[in-house]
Amino acid sequence: MKILLAGDHGAFALKDEIIKHLQSRGGCQIVNLGVDGPESVDYPEYAQKLCRALLAGEADKGILLCGTGLGMSIAANRFNGIRGALCHDEYTARLSRQHNNANVLILGARSTGPAVALGIVDVWLDTEFEGDRHQRRLDKIESRL
Ligand code: RB5
Repeated sequence: MKILLAGDHGAFALKDEIIKHLQSRGGCQIVNLGVDGPESVDYPEYAQKLCRALLAGEADKGILLCGTGLGMSIAANRFNGIRGALCHDEYTARLSRQHNNANVLILGARSTGPAVALGIVDVWLDTEFEGDRHQRRLDKIESRL
């Protein structure tokens, strides 16, 4: 599985921890789209870079991070075909895959501690979409009914 990661200055440290965690898990290829330091950047640019690459088929899933996760969530979900899920715990991470087929996990580095965030990442990556009635609902979102 190929995973894209991007975040703003509020989340570069957590992004780094997640990358190390994914490397130790193995079984996935990681593409880090930045930012990798504390310099102030604008989160929409990073959301857009990741979403465009994901929609172009360059990866299977994405992880976006900012201070709260809110800005990334708003920016990512402007894209048709992006199902970004801002998750604060393993329960919402699991359901975002089972019911919403989320293709982008969004985390807030200032609102979610690193240990919780790594648990969320694991559950999110290990949980499959259940399809069926949930696919029907997603189709309605895509067709804007
Ligand atoms: C940056 O200060 C902060 O606004 C950003 O990381 C994010 O929380 C926005 O929603």
